[in-house]
Amino acid sequence: MTTTNYEFTRGIDYSAIVATSERVAWTVNEIFHDRRFDTTKRIVPDSWVRTRHLAFLNEREQRTLNHLRAFSYVHLFGNYEEFIPIHLTGFARQDWHADRAHLRALLRFGEEEMKHQQLFLRAEAILEESCGHAFGRYFDKDRLTAFTAATLAYAPLPRSLILLALEWGSQRHYVDSVRDHSGDSSDPLYVDILKYHWIEENQHTKTGVLEIAQLAVDLSSDEISEAFDQVQGIAGLVDKTLIGQVHQELATFQTVTGRTLAEAEVTALSEALYQSMRAIWAEVALTHPNFKRVALELSKEGATKLGIA
Ligand SMILES: [Fe+2]
Ligand SMILES: [Fe+2]
Repeated sequence: MTTTNYEFTRGIDYSAIVATSERVAWTVNEIFHDRRFDTTKRIVPDSWVRTRHLAFLNEREQRTLNHLRAFSYVHLFGNYEEFIPIHLTGFARQDWHADRAHLRALLRFGEEEMKHQQLFLRAEAILEESCGHAFGRYFDKDRLTAFTAATLAYAPLPRSLILLALEWGSQRHYVDSVRDHSGDSSDPLYVDILKYHWIEENQHTKTGVLEIAQLAVDLSSDEISEAFDQVQGIAGLVDKTLIGQVHQELATFQTVTGRTLAEAEVTALSEALYQSMRAIWAEVALTHPNFKRVALELSKEGATKLGIA
């Protein structure tokens, strides 16, 4: 393996990543036991929903929207993670007789993401059970296959970059859920899901930056800058799923509350839901200080394309 001089890889090594990964590992059953969500309260922070300014919604409806967003988050995250094990396989094949710790870090990373998918699927099921109704899902098998294939069609560097942003985003999601004290705090079970997810994602960000540095070493500065255009391409794929899931939220909202909204109200609500969806996925991830640091060190020109300066 070629050594790289990127500052963002300093102090990070595969052996330490594997050791931490073994020490902090958890099982889905350990998190859930027989716990349920308390649906008499909000589940996620208000900042994840941002519909408080809509005066035509009563408290119960605001709470329903909060539960809908709690569902959308686990639904989307679980499906976004589908491409990761296959994405990592590429690195594992390439470096299969490099050092053992490197291979173990990649394989554990992939296995953990498959476990996370189970975590999120279980959360979807328990949310439906706790709330006593079904939630609309953007992803079915066909959409998931298409989204995963479209993401994997991009080169490894842009895939690694968007993944890194998403993983650091998951840190912010957890921090928001414990720090946002406007009104009630977030649901304890939900906070645990975010917390245990981040505990493992933390190792993934470390493996991620090492892979990114390795990929960048073989590329020209123009090619690295070009990778940021491709990051925007993948972000465009994600954006379509956000719009699709907001449609699902609106449909479920009307079914669950029995409320028929006027056309202007539908427009205002879908706009607010779309904006908050974009905020918790795109903004939170792409403006994370650690991600900015990596982007800027790789390519100032590339980073500018994502609004990072
Ligand atoms: Fe994950
Ligand atoms: Fe991850």
